[in-house]
Amino acid sequence: MSPYAHITGWGMAVPERVMTNDDIAKMVDTSDEWIQSMTGIRERRIANDEQTTASLAADAARKALNVANLKPADLDLIIVSTSSPEHTFPSTASLVQDRLGAYKAGAFDLLAACTGFIYGVKLATDSIRADAIKNALVIGAETLSRLVNWNDRNTCILFGDGAGAFVLQAAEDTGGVLSSVLRSDGSGAELLSLPGGGSRYPTSPDTLKNGMHYIQMNGREVFRFATRVMAQATEEAVEKANITMDDIHLVIPHQANKRIIEAAARGMNIPIERCYMNLDRYGNTSTASIPIATCEAIQQGRIHPGDKIVFVGFGAGLTWGAAVALWSGPLTTRRIIYPARYRFYARLRSILLRWLRRIDAIIWGRYHNSG
Ligand code: UT7
Repeated sequence: MSPYAHITGWGMAVPERVMTNDDIAKMVDTSDEWIQSMTGIRERRIANDEQTTASLAADAARKALNVANLKPADLDLIIVSTSSPEHTFPSTASLVQDRLGAYKAGAFDLLAACTGFIYGVKLATDSIRADAIKNALVIGAETLSRLVNWNDRNTCILFGDGAGAFVLQAAEDTGGVLSSVLRSDGSGAELLSLPGGGSRYPTSPDTLKNGMHYIQMNGREVFRFATRVMAQATEEAVEKANITMDDIHLVIPHQANKRIIEAAARGMNIPIERCYMNLDRYGNTSTASIPIATCEAIQQGRIHPGDKIVFVGFGAGLTWGAAVALWSGPLTTRRIIYPARYRFYARLRSILLRWLRRIDAIIWGRYHNSG
């Protein structure tokens, strides 16, 4: 029998710095009242100069590994979903792998915008179900504050920085991720994009002059699309799991806009109380919003082992998707782990590998020059 992919660890990391709506109203023509009534957002977190997508991702990942009682070396796969990677390449996932010291793991980035975390969970689940891997780490991490035009009131009010992570593990017991639905419609690509800096429009004085290195959005169209697909994807995923909406204890939607979540709840025919929301404090952290919301829902006692949960999101691409999970929590085998030690070893290992690579290059150069 193929193993099930259980969610056995979770963690989140958000910057300490809080930016309120009033702070934004000092930069652009807006108000706390407008932002709260149109989006539900009160404040968001903004990364400081030392914090990056990889550092937030690694912090969230360490917490998730602690909950799961896993060592970084136990990981087979690391997926980082992000729209604000540290670089075009190398992948942010490889930087996270190095920071964690997960030396037996493959690592790659995934770009499906705000839906990316659901895509990542689906890929990790399928790898576990196929018995190809045992332990996976899926991280959603963003520092979108660095890609936002702080003079554009259409977008700068929405986004925040943060990271969230899940550990998924193989286990024989029925449970974990039961079903998922992934969708895309690239005909809506221009509705939400960051057009500059890629191979289509490489960075140039023109792309900079035209602000193509900033997020561009048709808010109204994205809003309409979101309200349409959230309920649809949820219903499909629930049906695929052979259950009904009545069996669902909690829906964890992408935290973009309170009005979108309210419309989705109406579409799903469930009371709004069954949809978890924390966007008032973090804004839209894109692909990080679902795992961050999950962590807080757990902290607040809203999720218990045995509960059936839906994760549902939408975003640029356009992309959307949903997943149904039977919540299990950490596997019962409690092991003694040493998180502080792993952090130290990972740093040491990274430094040693860099030195070894240099020494190796010198020896290799001498050998070849002498030949
Ligand atoms: O992860 C996915 C990310 N994207 C989203 O989730 C975006 C989804 N869309 C939305 O959340 C909404 O479209 C917004 C909250 C962004 C905007 O709400 P809207 O009801 O679609 O407003 P709008 O863009 O149609 O603008 C309505 C009015 C306009 O004024 P006029 O032309 O009617 O006089 C805007 O200029 O509101 C004005 N406006 C603002 N006023 C104060 C737009 N942004 C602001 C602002 N403060 N920040």
